[in-house]
Amino acid sequence: MRHLLPALLLLTFGAPLLAAPTPPQTLVRPGELWEDNNGNHINAHGGGFLRYGGKVWWFGEHKVPGDAGNYAQVGVHCYSSDEDDLVNWKDEGIALRVSDDPKSDIAKGCILERPKVVFNAKTGKFVMWFHLELKGKGYSAARSGVAVADRPEGPYTFLRSGRINPGKWPENLPAEKRTLEGAPKSQGLSGSWFPEGMDKAAFFYRDFKGGQMARDMTIFVDDDGKAYHVYASEENGTLQIAELDDTYTAHTGRYVRVFEGRFMEAPAIFKKGGKYYFIGSGCTGWAPNAARSAVADSIWGPWKELGNPARGENADKTHYSQSTYVLPHPKKPGVFIYCGDRWTPKNAIDGRYIWLPIEWEGEKPVLNWKYSWAPADL
Ligand code: DGJ
Repeated sequence: MRHLLPALLLLTFGAPLLAAPTPPQTLVRPGELWEDNNGNHINAHGGGFLRYGGKVWWFGEHKVPGDAGNYAQVGVHCYSSDEDDLVNWKDEGIALRVSDDPKSDIAKGCILERPKVVFNAKTGKFVMWFHLELKGKGYSAARSGVAVADRPEGPYTFLRSGRINPGKWPENLPAEKRTLEGAPKSQGLSGSWFPEGMDKAAFFYRDFKGGQMARDMTIFVDDDGKAYHVYASEENGTLQIAELDDTYTAHTGRYVRVFEGRFMEAPAIFKKGGKYYFIGSGCTGWAPNAARSAVADSIWGPWKELGNPARGENADKTHYSQSTYVLPHPKKPGVFIYCGDRWTPKNAIDGRYIWLPIEWEGEKPVLNWKYSWAPADL
């Protein structure tokens, strides 16, 4: 009879009531199911993190089962953990909801990816940026969305979405190239490379008037409080780094093009010892590839590539993960955690989290596989 009870409960009340509270955990287990305080697998993919009020807040894409989960059916999910924990996460609910109004930019069924939240001390607002694709238009819109809230967990109010810095020249484009006259012409792309003979700046010129594309993205706030939007632009061929204004809700017009023609996605930035580090990926859709890394003395570059940071077996697939964020350990300055996704697009909700401590080989950040590890031991 005892073993019949769960089945009876399931039939009577449905599955959610059976999820038992999870006892406190001490280990991160990359690739395993990761239960929140209610015993549910954490649902915050393509995540970003905010340190605020003695807690770390995790924001990510709420996925649903099946292929439908690759489209935003719900919105952005939020979790919190004590600063000195990082293993046990409390479900804080849906921070930003997609809209039931089919005319909204964030209509249910749009693509809303890689949300990142920062706190703006001047306005007292929490600001969320995300990659937005309009419903029914595949990945062609390549917009950025922004929303604000009075509390970290929301609710967030959607402000607007659009392309980036229309009509603005990047700071690192030589003066003689700042003209559309005789500018290189774009051709169709096939995969992650430029058609032979095509100038690698061609998509930048194509989008100059209407604004630059932005897909995979992160937001980085520097020690001086300035915030930067880092995004895969120009049909994913080139990344751009754009300064945000002092409310963090708009771009100032200052930006640079970096890693021209290198087809990088999944950007994450962190700062150690006065240097800026970048971890990202190549462009192979949901399938994992060899990660990229780079270092610079200034956020504006020049950036020096350091190669694939992953080490050991499955390094060529970054331990079957794609970067989404590098989390500075809240209590241990100079200690960083790589946060990546192992995507499962056929059943999006089942995506796993690959978190690994960042180790160092001289100036190079490296990622060694670990079946389990404890943030407390870093
Ligand atoms: C890879 C990106 O990093 C993801 O965020 C998502 O956009 C997929 N591509 C879609 O194929």
